[in-house]
Amino acid sequence: MGILITFEGIEGCGKTTQLRLLGDYLRKKGYTVHETREPGGTFIGDQIRKILLNPENKGMDAIAELLLYEACRAQLIKELRVMSDELEVKGKDKKIILCDRFTDSTLVYQGYGRGIKFEIIDELNRIASRGIKPAITILLDLDVKTGLKRARERNINSRQSAVGSRQSAESRFEEEALEFHRKVREGYLEIASKEPERIKVIDAAMAVEEIHSEIVKVVNWKFGAPTKVGRGN
Ligand code: TMP
Repeated sequence: MGILITFEGIEGCGKTTQLRLLGDYLRKKGYTVHETREPGGTFIGDQIRKILLNPENKGMDAIAELLLYEACRAQLIKELRVMSDELEVKGKDKKIILCDRFTDSTLVYQGYGRGIKFEIIDELNRIASRGIKPAITILLDLDVKTGLKRARERNINSRQSAVGSRQSAESRFEEEALEFHRKVREGYLEIASKEPERIKVIDAAMAVEEIHSEIVKVVNWKFGAPTKVGRGN
């Protein structure tokens, strides 16, 4: 399917900005890069995203929520595979896929956050992702209060701009109690400690440029710069 690099972290940790910066960096190096996100990333997934993040859906059942995230993922993986097969037919290089959130988000938000059993989540993650695992996961770690403050400011700013109504319609998780986000952060750090080879923790309190250069170091260390990243996954 290509090489999958995922970005994880609590709300307001800056992962979307960092994903774009890494995408630009890799494209400049000559790689074919596809940027995507969860929930979303496909026509069908973007419709599910709206349901999942709509603050009016406060009463959503935790299992219904879990299944919607997995439905989004199943669709994304299917479409990424089709895209990869088409490239292969054309004899082109496989892509590096940068994904804003992936299976680790489900483990920490629905598992550590909502309390759904890890075995259930692991199994559904495996089914929806067809067993595909990220080669690297960048975990941008930030203290919860700072992250939520940033996320709320982003929502207020965007409410005042033309695109605002879309952003603020996505605030269901940001409205969760501080305690929920604490559990999420702790969950992330725990899974990172269990898989240090794959999950690289980066301090998201640093300046944007500093974080970017740390991420570049991680990617180059993993794949060996400056030679081109390998093809399989
Ligand atoms: P974001 O992409 O703007 O951060 O919003 C996605 C929200 O969805 C975020 O609050 C985390 C949440 N989420 C889950 O709860 N489980 C998941 O599996 C994924 C991918 C995201």
